[in-house]
Amino acid sequence: MGSMMMMTMKKVFIILSSVHSLFFLLILPVNSNLIPESFIHCLSSDHQFPSNTSILSVTYVTTNASYQSLLHSCVQNLRFLSSDTPKPLAIITALEYSHVQTAVTCSKSNGLQIRIRSGGHDFEGLSYRSQVPFVILDLRNLKSVSIDIEDGSAWVESGATLGELYYAIAEKSPVHGFPAGSYPGVGIGGHFSGGGVGYLVRKYGLAADNVIDALVVDVNGRILDKESMGSDLFWAIRGGGGGSFGVVLAWRIKLVQVPAVVTACKPIRTFEHGAIDLLHKWQYVQPKLSEKITSLPVSNRLGVEFNFLFLGRVEELLEMTEDEFPELQLRKEDCSEMSWIESVLFLSGYPGGNSIEILKNRAYNPFRVHLKLKTDLIHQPLPYEAFEGMRKWNTGVDSGSIFFQSYGGIMKRISESELPFPHRKVQYEILYLMGWMEGDKKDGEKSSSEKYIHQLGELYELMTPYVADNPRSAYVNSRDLDLGTNDVFGTTTYSKAENDWGLRYFKNNFRKLAIIKAEVDPTNFFNHQQSIPPLFVTHHNEL
Ligand SMILES: Cc1cc2nc3c(=O)[nH]c(=O)nc-3n(C[C@H](O)[C@H](O)[C@H](O)COP(=O)(O)OP(=O)(O)OC[C@H]3O[C@@H](n4cnc5c(N)ncnc54)[C@H](O)[C@@H]3O)c2cc1C
Ligand SMILES: *[C@@H]1O[C@H](CO)[C@@H](O)[C@H](O)[C@H]1NC(C)=O
Ligand SMILES: *[C@@H]1O[C@H](CO)[C@@H](O)[C@H](O)[C@H]1NC(C)=O
Repeated sequence: MGSMMMMTMKKVFIILSSVHSLFFLLILPVNSNLIPESFIHCLSSDHQFPSNTSILSVTYVTTNASYQSLLHSCVQNLRFLSSDTPKPLAIITALEYSHVQTAVTCSKSNGLQIRIRSGGHDFEGLSYRSQVPFVILDLRNLKSVSIDIEDGSAWVESGATLGELYYAIAEKSPVHGFPAGSYPGVGIGGHFSGGGVGYLVRKYGLAADNVIDALVVDVNGRILDKESMGSDLFWAIRGGGGGSFGVVLAWRIKLVQVPAVVTACKPIRTFEHGAIDLLHKWQYVQPKLSEKITSLPVSNRLGVEFNFLFLGRVEELLEMTEDEFPELQLRKEDCSEMSWIESVLFLSGYPGGNSIEILKNRAYNPFRVHLKLKTDLIHQPLPYEAFEGMRKWNTGVDSGSIFFQSYGGIMKRISESELPFPHRKVQYEILYLMGWMEGDKKDGEKSSSEKYIHQLGELYELMTPYVADNPRSAYVNSRDLDLGTNDVFGTTTYSKAENDWGLRYFKNNFRKLAIIKAEVDPTNFFNHQQSIPPLFVTHHNEL
């Protein structure tokens, strides 16, 4: 188990071996994977939060037959399925809000950490791994979506996926949508907590920009809404990153208008046919394009796929690209007119020809491989040689893609302190992604994970001279533990976290996040490898 457990064991040993060795033997089982009896007792006897079904019926401990397969299904990044990844003492798949309340209060009173899991897509696996004894609170069953078209709003529970939300909206209306991420498998809970960027970002901003209420279970097990949680906590949960402030059960969102017919395109341009020139040019073109266009070029070793979503008809798009980006030579055949929900499927990389039903299929996840991601946020066009460098890197590795996610549009008109997500002036985000399977390792080679992570690190190094703004910033949903981590005891100082990753993810909003953290969770119960540390200040006007 984790090093804290080991330390406790050591202390226990030193004290007890000098007292009575038989007593030591009796105490030994503490070091096993067994859940403390007192925790189970707390779950079964805590009637503070009445429920219709017993929480024990959804509590899986290591000896339960389905524990293994359930744990397996929590893990979306296969890098963390390895045997040296610490395992939870229990997995609780909450069915009711009261289960979440009980799980929080019982974990707290028993000195166990919780890891909150909605979709499990955290790039560093923070929703299902910890170095200290912990319980996974899995929200996969809290997934209802209720749409109010009249009002143009919806309530969506954290355990739903983006695909399920999009599907439910489209079922009710062909002209409503929601601006969130482009990958249907991602969970609402983690995604909204960190911001949420996708193909409607230039027109409508982040997912978090369109959240108008939420239900949160706080550290004392209370359920709070926007009114009762107050404006600070409501600000913090919309972009401050998941797992620091409480468990968000559900979100009320404002739906947005989309035309009945949109145009989606993904022309591929090879490097032989000038893909680098086009990417370089794209940087100058994309900020000037209409907000109705969001583009996401993806480069791999063969070339670049120029993915576009245009909120309008194909003729209008072709006229625009003809004027603004003639070099791309976008043709009608590169594009298709379709409904917004069809564009979600088409642009997500899910296989073509499938009906949109696949958006609701949680078992379908082509990205369920070993993953490592690093990112940069770009404020100024990069020089040509940066793209040449990326291409050279890409052709030298057998795995790896580079995504260029447009920002801009409405984002530029939103203040950096409106929400914790501060990157409003960014032109685009580069995502350097490695995805691989284990087992392709030759004798004497490092493990494939080491190899691929090392290669990705080389790319990040290579980009340093071009992107170095101070500090080099990142988006919290593109989680990267290389930026630094909290210590396992949860005692990381504010200034260390600020220097390591705080300012990079949140710029000047980090301080406010840490002050709010101290107010709502002063004992730092909700903590993980990169959670916000509490900052205690004497005067409230410090915000
Ligand atoms: C294949 C893939 C594609 C992606 N595409 C996009 C994209 O297009 N745009 C984009 O912006 N991001 C994208 N992401 C990143 C994604 O937004 C984040 O990984 C997000 O945090 C995942 O949310 P989740 O609920 O699936 O993750 P989880 O792993 O369940 O949670 C992530 C973090 O949030 C915490 N958390 C989870 N649920 C809650 C809750 N209910 N209350 C409080 N804290 C909670 C967890 O403890 C963890 O720290 C992508 C990720 C992957 C793997
Ligand atoms: C786990 O195992 C215990 C002991 O056998 C059993 O009482 C309990 O019902 C099981 N839990 C689940 C969720 O199946
Ligand atoms: C519990 O049961 C009551 C009565 O049937 C019902 O009204 C309520 O919605 C249920 N609660 C949950 C969380 O299922």
